[in-house]
Amino acid sequence: MGVLILGIESSCDDTSASVVKDGYVLSNVMASQEVHQRYGGVVPELASRAHQQNIIPVVDYAMSSAGIGIEKLSAVAFTRGPGLLGSLLVGTSFSKGLALSRNIPLIEVNHLQAHILAHFIAQEGKEDDQPKFPFLCLLVSGGHTQLVLVNDYLDMKIIGRTIDDAAGEAFDKCAKVLGLRYPGGPKMDKLAATGDAEAFTFSKPSLPDLNYSFSGLKTSFLYFIRDQLKNNANFIQDRKNDLAASLQKTIIDILMDKLIVASRNTGITQIGIAGGVAANSGLRTTLFNEAKYRNWKIFIPDFNYSTDNAAMVAITGYYKYLAKDFTKQTIVPDARLNI
Ligand code: KG4
Ligand code: ZN
Repeated sequence: MGVLILGIESSCDDTSASVVKDGYVLSNVMASQEVHQRYGGVVPELASRAHQQNIIPVVDYAMSSAGIGIEKLSAVAFTRGPGLLGSLLVGTSFSKGLALSRNIPLIEVNHLQAHILAHFIAQEGKEDDQPKFPFLCLLVSGGHTQLVLVNDYLDMKIIGRTIDDAAGEAFDKCAKVLGLRYPGGPKMDKLAATGDAEAFTFSKPSLPDLNYSFSGLKTSFLYFIRDQLKNNANFIQDRKNDLAASLQKTIIDILMDKLIVASRNTGITQIGIAGGVAANSGLRTTLFNEAKYRNWKIFIPDFNYSTDNAAMVAITGYYKYLAKDFTKQTIVPDARLNI
């Protein structure tokens, strides 16, 4: 019958449930929360309330579109952290209840590890198109920016991380300065496509190790625009595309600089990219150009599995199930869980 894992993701503002059979996705259902858009960012209390409303219909739909009954599940895997505590509590409590009532194993999943293991979601005909261990993974999303050395499915080490904002957060906050609604990252990407990336220069951090910093860039962007607006009240309107392109290029440069050092230091040329910012077209183009030049092999999960989703939680649950790595009913969410 195979191993059937139900994965539940509720760490931020997406309620998602997925059924994975022997590593292949049978369903991956998502309810996004539009309620945050008008606030310019995720409001934690509204997020947890929306998760409570969404979780049962989302799980129900994931099960029915997978075409399996709840009695067939081998285990339930859920995101324990990191994330917003109130949001995590909804997925954790639901999963505990389900595992208890069905008397099946409960598996806790680290959201960051799940983003990375999204690379191993099996797809018909593409089974060989997965990174080989060890590989380097650049995890870039709205909440995280990390460089991870991945030795095995369940053996990873963070070798660099942001000391302040995440890359996606930098996109979103700068987009807000341009008057774009949350999440601004994809909108910046679109504008940047027709802008001049060399038009403006913004400050880059100079950290000695593999760590990242984006808060200085955000401030430099904000102050630059504030100064320009004094001379030209239409500056943002007039130069929106150039601003987006120049900002995007700076973020990509910052990300690439450390990735290149990490690859050089470790000798690893298999590079995975995970998280929502992996969708950025400028980052993708830069990566593939560098790959040609440096003999890298690049792996990027499909967009549906790059942004927050439950299939990545279910695939992590699958590997933990094989390793018999189960958790107890006394488990509680951990908003600051680390790899
Ligand atoms: O992984 P994700 O869905 O959620 C988090 O765990 O944060 O990532 C969302 C982030 C947001 O900051 C969003 O603006 C950014 O990914 N993002 C992008 C693009 N698509 C999503 N940033 C730049 N360019 C994009 N095309
Ligand atoms: Zn995420």
